[in-house]
Amino acid sequence: MTRIVLLGLVLVAACSARQFDKCSLVKELRQHGFPEPQMRDWVCLVEKESGFRTDAVGRLNGDGSWDHGLFQVNDRYWCTRDGPPGLECNVTCAALRTDDIGAAAACVKKIFARHGFGGWTAWTKHCQGAKPDISMC
Ligand SMILES: *[C@@H]1O[C@H](CO)[C@@H](O)[C@H](O)[C@H]1NC(C)=O
Repeated sequence: MTRIVLLGLVLVAACSARQFDKCSLVKELRQHGFPEPQMRDWVCLVEKESGFRTDAVGRLNGDGSWDHGLFQVNDRYWCTRDGPPGLECNVTCAALRTDDIGAAAACVKKIFARHGFGGWTAWTKHCQGAKPDISMC
């Protein structure tokens, strides 16, 4: 009995991550107020940074930091890897990896206000020239 309950919890935890695709992401970003003229850039950025997965954690960066979630937010400046919410986004990195993208959306809007899309290496490398077609979304 206990074993069954525990298995249930593990499955619930596993389901708290979300895998978007191009159009489900567009829908979600619209709900969180991302501006339409930026939409193709955000979709490209998210695809290249996280493969559209909310629970993505990148490889260890050269400076010892990690990147978190759909938008791969860096924990050197923006979120706390341990302990209470903090740093520039006043949030835990774990909160940036959940299926509710609200905290991540608020944080990346802050990053964008400071750095624009140039704050994301993947955008600079892959998205400046070639943007995805989202006209069918
Ligand atoms: C950070 O968020 C907490 C709630 O999680 C809030 O109580 C606190 O005032 C916030 N701090 C700053 C500096 O915004």
